[in-house]
Amino acid sequence: MFKTRRVAIIGGSGLMGQWFSKFFMLQGCKVTISSRGYAKCARVASRIGVSAAKSNIDAIKGADLVIISVMMQNFENTVEEISKHLERGQIVIDVTSVKVAPVKIMHRYIKENLVLGTHPMFGPSAEAKGQNFILTPVNGKEKAFALQFSKYLKSKGFNAILMAPSKHDQMIGAVLSLTHFVGFVTGDTWKELRIHKFINTSSTSFRFLKSFVESVVDSSPELYSYLQVGVPGAYSVEKLFVKKSLEWSELTRSKNQKKLERKMSVLRKYVSKL
Ligand SMILES: NC(=O)c1ccc[n+]([C@@H]2O[C@H](COP(=O)([O-])OP(=O)(O)OC[C@H]3O[C@@H](n4cnc5c(N)ncnc54)[C@H](OP(=O)(O)O)[C@@H]3O)[C@@H](O)[C@H]2O)c1
Repeated sequence: MFKTRRVAIIGGSGLMGQWFSKFFMLQGCKVTISSRGYAKCARVASRIGVSAAKSNIDAIKGADLVIISVMMQNFENTVEEISKHLERGQIVIDVTSVKVAPVKIMHRYIKENLVLGTHPMFGPSAEAKGQNFILTPVNGKEKAFALQFSKYLKSKGFNAILMAPSKHDQMIGAVLSLTHFVGFVTGDTWKELRIHKFINTSSTSFRFLKSFVESVVDSSPELYSYLQVGVPGAYSVEKLFVKKSLEWSELTRSKNQKKLERKMSVLRKYVSKL
């Protein structure tokens, strides 16, 4: 089974970096974090009880596992920087929310070390138990490691799932990009409607939707904007959603209640099986 003792987390002062720092610390590992600004990194490190390195290069010295937890915008520079300093046997994992581009970038710069694309399907406030953790190996060596790593993740309570990077990104378009799109567009519609005037008289379903919209809107604009523009299938999924919205809206305009009822019944059956 996969075992690690020393973990370096590049971008360890960020939200997910801190999550992974605490996680590996709890597993008894020695964790070292780095980011571009040492002062912030040192502050975070002393708060959570790990070590801070002055640079990414210092952070990876002696580590057996290197986790890259930076935003996609900073990913290529970071991989290029550490690639020249990796030690024999060190394994490099990224946790970026898309997979095709980062996996290609890791292969472009890292030739001797094992790399693995991964995507934790949860945010920094989540507990490990029951969370989906996607691994995207692209060759035999990576697959063998991914199988070991997935056993390790399962032993810690995660659902580890192996899939191709392209399938992952397609799934993200349908699952994450669309979900966020619906949240943002709903919030924007409420803003236009000045919905705050009706808040005190709202229904249960409205309050349910409000907590969903809040969770989407209360997110990192840097990450969520990337999940719209950086996910290859996002735009076509959004176009489908707009087309479907018009279809439904047309039934409202034409007051075609019978057809609406039929559509609702069909949908109830489909959604109940999800
Ligand atoms: N947040 C989520 O819900 C979530 C969920 C799953 C996956 N992810 C993925 O996890 C990654 C990190 O996301 P996050 O939400 O943790 O972002 P974040 O809070 O902005 O953290 C990113 C960290 O990277 C550091 N950084 C940026 N450039 C760097 C460089 N060249 N070298 C070293 N450190 C650098 C930043 O610190 P400095 O600015 O001080 O350098 C910051 O601490 C992203 O790829 C995201 O797609 C996020």
